[in-house]
Order: sequence, then C-alpha cells, then structure tokens
Amino acid sequence: MLSPKLQKIWYGADYNPDQWPEDVWEKDVRLMKLAHVNVATLPVFSWTRLQPAEDRYTFEWLDRILDKLAANDIYACIATSTAAQPAWMSHRFPDVLRTDINGIKHKQGGRTNFCPNSPNYRRYSRELALRLGERYKDHPALVAWHVANEYGSHCYCALCAEAFRDWLKARYGSLDAVNAAWNTAFWSHGLTAWEEIETPTTHGERNNMPMLLDYDRFQNDAILACYCNEYDALKSVTPDVYVTTNLMGHFKPLNYHAWAPYLDVVSWDSYPLPDEAASSVAFKHELMRGLRDGQPFMLMEQTPSQVNWMPRNQLRRPGVMRLLSYQAVAHGADTVMFFQFRRARGGPEKMHGAIVDHVGHEHTRVFGEVQALGAELEALGDALLDARQDARVGLLFDWENWWAIDYSVGPTRDLDYVATCRKYYAALWDANIPVDVVRPEADLSKYDLVIAPMLYMLRPGVAGHLTEYVRKGGTLVVSYFSGIADENDLATLDGYPGELREVLGIWVEEHDPMLEDQTVEVHAEPWGRVQGCYKAGILCDLLHLEGATARASYASEFYAGRPVITENRYGEGKALYVAADVDATLMRDLLLTLCDEKGIRAPLCVSGGAEVTQRSRHGREFTLILNHGAVAATAALPYACRDLLTGRELAGSVELAAKDVLILEKI
Ligand code: GLA
Ligand code: ZN
Repeated sequence: MLSPKLQKIWYGADYNPDQWPEDVWEKDVRLMKLAHVNVATLPVFSWTRLQPAEDRYTFEWLDRILDKLAANDIYACIATSTAAQPAWMSHRFPDVLRTDINGIKHKQGGRTNFCPNSPNYRRYSRELALRLGERYKDHPALVAWHVANEYGSHCYCALCAEAFRDWLKARYGSLDAVNAAWNTAFWSHGLTAWEEIETPTTHGERNNMPMLLDYDRFQNDAILACYCNEYDALKSVTPDVYVTTNLMGHFKPLNYHAWAPYLDVVSWDSYPLPDEAASSVAFKHELMRGLRDGQPFMLMEQTPSQVNWMPRNQLRRPGVMRLLSYQAVAHGADTVMFFQFRRARGGPEKMHGAIVDHVGHEHTRVFGEVQALGAELEALGDALLDARQDARVGLLFDWENWWAIDYSVGPTRDLDYVATCRKYYAALWDANIPVDVVRPEADLSKYDLVIAPMLYMLRPGVAGHLTEYVRKGGTLVVSYFSGIADENDLATLDGYPGELREVLGIWVEEHDPMLEDQTVEVHAEPWGRVQGCYKAGILCDLLHLEGATARASYASEFYAGRPVITENRYGEGKALYVAADVDATLMRDLLLTLCDEKGIRAPLCVSGGAEVTQRSRHGREFTLILNHGAVAATAALPYACRDLLTGRELAGSVELAAKDVLILEKI
C-alpha cells in the first residue's frame, strides 16, 4: 500500500500553482474535483519560489495551496523541487553548474543542469528537502515524497574528475590495478600518477572502454548519492512516508537496478511514441516493475493528449489515453498520473498536453476523457491495489551490459541491446505469456524459463548464478554475442561465451555480421513448433558443439550446416543458445516450444492484438484484457466473470471493441 491515507488507485497530475495567480488555484481545485483527481504532485520546479535567497525560505504560498488541496480531500505527492537550481545559486556558487562531455561549463538555465558532485548543490538540496520534510511531515495532504525530477545528466567538470579519482582509489586500491583493469598498455595509455586521470571527453579520452564504463558507474553513483542525500533527509523526518523519484524506463545514463534499493516505490514517466508497439510499452512497464521484485509501481507521468518534444506531436486518439492507463495498471501500476494538470502559459511546454487546456474550462475532449477515466477508477476502489503477477518466465536486463555493448567498436554497429530484449519479450507478449523483466542477479528459482538476450558482459557471479539455475532444473536461453567480456570489458581468453561455455555446451569461434538487409537461411528439423525454413540476420555466431545438440542450422553462406540453435542438457535443466538474430517466426516457434514443454500458457485465448494480463491479491484473481487493435477482438472466457468496469456478467465468447478494456473477475 503506497499510503494508508489513500487506499485506491491514485489519480492525478503534476501541478504548478506557482505559475498562476492564486485566483486560478480556486478554479483548479474545482476542476480537480470534477475530474476525480485525488493527488497532485507539487512543487516540481519551484526552488526559487521556495528559497529566493541563500538564507531565506518562503513556504507560505505552498502552505496555502496544500491546505486548499487538503480541505478538498486532494492529497499531495510533495516534490523537493531540486531538479533546477535557482539562478542566484549558480551565480554565487559556480561549482553547482555542470560541465558537458565537450568540456563546456554550462551557464544557468534548463534543468538537471547541476554537477552531482557539487558540495553546494548537495548542501542546499539536502537543506531544502529537510525543511520541506519538517514543515509538512504532519500535513494531512502528504502521501508521498517526489525527489527532484528525472535525474540523468552526467557531468565532466574538475570536481567530478577529482571525485572520479577517489572513486577509482576506493574501487581498485592501486594505480597498478587501474592500469590492469583498463588495459592501458593499449595505445600507450599507461598511468603513472592519479593526477593523470581525467574525465572522458570528446576531445580527449573516448576510446578506453573500461574507463568509459567506470565513468558511467561513477556518475551513476554520484547522481544516486544526490538522490540519497535528499532521501535520507526526508526519511529522518517521515520514516513511514514513501520516497521516490521519477524514472524513465530504459533510460541509458542511469543503472536503475542500483537505484532500486533506495526507492520505496518505483515511479516512472511513460511517453510512448504515437506508433510505438503495445509490447514495447509493456516491456518498459515490466522493466520498471521488475526493479523492486514485482512490487507495484507508480505511473508518475503520462500525457493526457499529446507531448511537445517529438517532431510531430500527434493527439492521442479517443480511448487511447484510457487504454494506456489501464495497460499500466495491468502491468502493476497503482497510480495513473499525468503531466500536467494545467497547461503552462509560457515556456517550452506551453504546447504540451494537459488535463486543463489554455482555454481553462472543463468543456474539452481531453478533460472529458480524463474525467470519465477518473470516475471509473474511483468505482474500482482498492480492488486492484497491490495485485501481483505470477510469471513463470524471466527476461534478464542489465544496464552495464547495455553500456558495454554500445561502447564496443565492432563487429557491427547494428547491435541493439534494448531492441533485442524487446524482440524476445514481444514474442511472448504476442502469445500473452506473462514475463518478468529482472536483473541477472534476481532470484530465478521461481521461473521455469529464463531468457538472457545478448549478455555480452558477464559481471562477476552472473554466469555462476545462471549455471546454478540450469543445474537445478531451469531452462535458459542465451542469445548471440554473449559471454564476450568481463566487467571491465576485457575479452574472455577462454573462448566465447566464456564462463557460459560449459552450461551451454558450445564454443563460439567467430561472429559474422550481415550487411544491410542481408539475411542467411536457417533450416530446422521438426522439434515442437519449430520446423522448416526461417531467416536470421544482424550477426551470425559460428560455433562448435561441445556436448550440445543442434536444433536448427544455417542453410546458406559458407557456414551452411553449422548450428544456429543449440540445446544442452545440464544438471536437471537445459541451456539453449541462439547464435543469430533469428526472425520473429523462429523466435516465436522456439519460445512457445519451450513454454509448451513446461506447460506455460496464456491465461485465455483472444483474437488479434488484444493483450491479456492476470494479477491476484488476497485470493482474488483479476484478468485484464486490453484491445490495442484497430478492430474488435474476441476473448474466449473459460468461466463466468464479472467485468469490474461495467458490472456486466460475461461468459463464453466475448467481443471487445477497438481500444476497449475489460477487467474480469471470476464469479
Ligand atoms: C518529463 C518531465 C516533465 C515534463 C514532461 C514533458 O517527463 O518530468 O517535467 O517536462 O517530461 O513530456
Ligand atoms: Zn561535475
């Protein structure tokens, strides 16, 4: 439960009252009530209004709006406002300003434009968080704390260089160890004194992969320390109130797995592209839910209508905002929240969608849709809160591995880690088989099938963990371009895939990248659903069997006849290797064959494009069916159900209009 004060799906938005005169606040509260909004996130960007000078804090305006919200039974996710520092701070304490990878020290402006190692930023942000905590700890509106906003900008200033050296001393102990880890003999990059270590930069070091990886780790730690700095301050005052910061899905600069222990609840901002596949949105929800072992998460932001930062900011079509809101709930969100309540009058976001448009009243299409959804969610009450998914398939995602793959020069620039993970996920999503997306170190014992796409970097312990999983009876699928490097991006000298060689029963000798639009033929003898001719592309690993058996082979190129899918029995389980980017059909046939073997199947059968998820809580089981398609879909219900959204009793074959949603519970 996010907060005992608000035991239903939180419905609300970022709210910026300080951008408006106070007579507008009155109107806003009326409109919030009308829209069934029960929570507002504020003040996300108001540091200057809260602290107009070094030694002056002005919280009175915030008192007034929080009191007004509380008087109207609207709760507050109180934000600490530290994502954009005041101009006075940047002027008086230039250490606060960020330096980019080009070595350019930024001037005041924008947001997340601070140095995470700046002592003054740390000091002032902690102080503000603490004062907010002390002032509002007993405020009736307070339900959660929202620290800063969308952290993520790396800094390359002199302070960061200094802190990087300290970080390296702590990690490696000696310069010799750094030289070894960074393989500095290459191109004569040997270090003879700590002072010689600089930050990466576009006009200096940008080729030393182990160093670039360490810098990313170091910046991740530094930015996380900024968050923890405020987290600790808030927790010291309100230990029982949840603290979070809004994440961004598969956002590359931050390793969110390292953040997860410090987020009482994961929250994230979902902004799918207008033509983004529903499976891709689902994948991000699962990645975010998986950060904290499947605990419910908060959908902190989405747009009610359109964004403003894409080249073409198409309106969400009628019903789509509702559908995507329920998709978040279907994947474990206990909140549906928007950016933002009232559309800004000026600045870059004045063309960004909001619940209340510039016209300022409720008689708009978007307000109508928000209001209708609000009424539905209110009627749902607490039914779905904290309902958990029971997946038998786990898909591994590893941020540092992603960084390392992207830093790798060759064998092909077509390698795309996230797209590869998404492709595996989509094959199961299409079949409505629930999948948890988890870190490689997660407890895998609850999964019958674990998929590790493109696990190029094997950090310490990972291969052992996966091997143990197989030994105890699990089925593991590892894709091409795995087991190449260690945590410092040093290539394995034990033959690819390094520490996974034994469990997979193979040795990969070479990688052959395909030219643009080139594919190779694949042929498989009948095995479960796998049979006949397929294609593969991007990268073809050429491997030798060392105990594994071939399930499919290349059927063209000079390596025709050599294995592309292998299976190796190991302990109580088995491990499969997929040596190339196989086409979607082969991926589907392969994964569904493995699911068949384990008796893993979809909760129920639906036609075209509809998504099914199942969640349960306290013995109640909910089945959500979401029709992402453009035409009606049908679902075959195995038992009689009640649709919680309409109260209707349903049985047998049920039709679901395009973009419509059913939330079913067995009668
Ligand atoms: C992010 C931010 C918001 C806003 C939206 C616009 O999610 O957190 O402050 O800028 O983007 O889409
Ligand atoms: Zn810095």
